[in-house]
Amino acid sequence: MSEQREPVGVIGVGWVGLVTAACFAELGHPVIARDILPEKVEALSRGEVAIHEPGLEDLLRRNAERLTFTTDMGELLAQARLLFVCVDTPPTYSGDADLSRVRAVVQELSGDGDHVLVMKSTVPAGTGESIRREMPNLAYVSCPEFLKEGTAVKDFMNPDRVVIGADPGDEGAADAVAALYQSLGGEILRTDVASAEMIKLASNAFLATKISFINEIANVCEEVGADVGQVAKGMGLDERIGTAFLRAGIGYGGSCFPKDVSALKMLAGNTGYHFQLLTSVIEVNELQQRRVVGKLEKHLGSLIGKRVALLGLAFKPDTDDMREASSLVLAARLQGEGAEVVAYDPVAAERASELLGSVEMAPSAMEALEGADAAVLVTEWPEFAELDWAAAAGRMARPVLVDGRNFLDPDKLVKAGFDYEGIGRQPRDAPAPAAAE
Ligand code: UGA
Repeated sequence: MSEQREPVGVIGVGWVGLVTAACFAELGHPVIARDILPEKVEALSRGEVAIHEPGLEDLLRRNAERLTFTTDMGELLAQARLLFVCVDTPPTYSGDADLSRVRAVVQELSGDGDHVLVMKSTVPAGTGESIRREMPNLAYVSCPEFLKEGTAVKDFMNPDRVVIGADPGDEGAADAVAALYQSLGGEILRTDVASAEMIKLASNAFLATKISFINEIANVCEEVGADVGQVAKGMGLDERIGTAFLRAGIGYGGSCFPKDVSALKMLAGNTGYHFQLLTSVIEVNELQQRRVVGKLEKHLGSLIGKRVALLGLAFKPDTDDMREASSLVLAARLQGEGAEVVAYDPVAAERASELLGSVEMAPSAMEALEGADAAVLVTEWPEFAELDWAAAAGRMARPVLVDGRNFLDPDKLVKAGFDYEGIGRQPRDAPAPAAAE
């Protein structure tokens, strides 16, 4: 006889909410998920998933009988005590997090004494305290999200850690949330609410700092003829540094890093503290996206009238997410310099064309490269490693490639006939940089 598991409510079925709902259902919990958009709820009820996340569709199908999607908050409140709030908190014009959707949810729960609000949405430190002050009857637990797009299901099932923040009086609610994650095996860290909120922001800001740091090292490597891949490996072998997130490239993007780094900087600024380091992390990232233009000009001279192919548009592989993708800045910059831009992405093309109206979308990488004066590898989709690059060189007007993710083998590309530019690395037989005066 199987025991009935604790029902879980999910509010907001975007990417985080949908992964959370599907994974709790997989763990055997009845899940009721609510969204305000009827068309989204109807599509999900029919089993249609609008986002590209490996494994998610299978999980939803396999657990369909444990999953209910609804627009009705009353239904959710009647069936679940633990309510995971997964609405988005996009940046406002000021760079602060927009809490209007979180506030709208809290309004709907007002006066309720039986439920536990579990905050998964990324919110500024202090949000939990202000909600608790407003709603003294509501138990409040902060349980920040650490999933990565593209590996979210795997990350949920194998967490490095689960952070559960609760203030005095809400320990029982925090125990109930901790119990949901117990079987997954990751360390469960119990903190107060403000610390849990800060752990999320500080983690993303630190990861973004690692990326901007290695990108600056890459830029220096270019000047001194060093190879950033070897440098990162050598640094990372020091246990205190670690190899992860030291891949140089054309900058970080996505719905989280740009937003959360800015939100933490603003949060600090609003308290009167100037977070100098994060200001630089953001600036380095913006400049890194633009350095590609200089690399192309080195080979092509003026970009006016030049045809440039972008390979990959999504902010990283295995997702069709275009939010804050480096390709958006790059396409606009290239067009600003007078280039004609053609692009190919195996998954994100449809989403991308809504944002990049004046960019021509090609149906395959080879067709994007046809007649192009140069190509930029923007997203490291595995199929680009498999491409017949010698054939591609023959079809391009000029075989120039900027590998924005250091994804391809430079020597192989040179052999295929390319002028290859990586980020902080050169092909072995590239001319040595001019000696310093
Ligand atoms: C990020 C965090 O990694 C998650 O832990 C967090 O839960 C999530 O934000 C969130 O706040 O919801 P995600 O945005 O899915 O996850 O993407 P990442 O895999 O972290 O990559 C972010 C960007 O950094 C991508 O554009 C990627 O290309 C870039 N990156 C990553 C680098 O340029 N170099 C690296 O070494 C690693």
